[in-house]
Amino acid sequence: MPKIIVLMGAPGAGKGTQARLLQERLHLPQISTGDMFRALKEAQTPLADEVRVLMAAGQLVPDDVTIRVVRERTAQEDCRNGYILDGFPRTPAQAAMLEQLAIEQGNAIQAIEIRMPRELLAKRMTGRRNCPVCGEIYNIYFRPPRVDNVCDLHPQTQLVHRADDTPETVEARLITYEEQTRPLLDYYQAKSVLFIVDGTREPEDIYRDIEKAVKSEK
Ligand code: AP5
Repeated sequence: MPKIIVLMGAPGAGKGTQARLLQERLHLPQISTGDMFRALKEAQTPLADEVRVLMAAGQLVPDDVTIRVVRERTAQEDCRNGYILDGFPRTPAQAAMLEQLAIEQGNAIQAIEIRMPRELLAKRMTGRRNCPVCGEIYNIYFRPPRVDNVCDLHPQTQLVHRADDTPETVEARLITYEEQTRPLLDYYQAKSVLFIVDGTREPEDIYRDIEKAVKSEK
């Protein structure tokens, strides 16, 4: 049965980093609602204005909007053999929708929590830099590019610092996570589909554990 791999964990835990490795090595599409909303907020529409304000405040985009974009994206042909969700679901309503979607699509849900102590998360986010061309994720403390602030894969491209990676917004995002998203871990635990990995290790070590869980029959 194809799998929906749900990467969970606090902001900065390493979901995007692991989702990119899974996409590259298992050839499954990575669906990041955060990336989709970052693209959406560049438009000149009332919805883009709303998303911009919410993201800047570290709050969640409304469920109806989020559910619609995920439903549309996962209906595409490349999701036929399963896919990776990075940053979805984040609320009980989103989890309920995903349950329904999995039934409709004939997929099994495999949730993976990348567990990180809260005190280590801020540095992950404030040090993060992204390539605006390929999305590669760097970190000035933990994974610096070869040349200062330039993508290793796109030597003409300066890296960018995400607008929501400021200390104030990071704090607000962590609070939003604790209040609205963390309870979903209990939900998946109760369904016996949650696999927990220690996110404090090297990305390759974390990846090995995740791949094992993804390839298991459970
Ligand atoms: P989103 O983009 O999903 O952000 P997030 O959940 O806050 O997660 P991050 O992207 O900050 O962190 P990550 O876990 O992916 O870590 P990464 O791999 O980059 O969401 C942004 C916003 O969009 C939300 O606040 C909300 O407004 C909206 N939104 C999104 N989804 C939504 C939804 N479903 N419903 C409603 N609203 C939604 O790693 C972080 C850093 O650490 C990087 O610099 C990386 O290089 C480094 N790093 C990673 N792994 C390691 C390691 N093992 N060791 C050392 N460094 C590491």
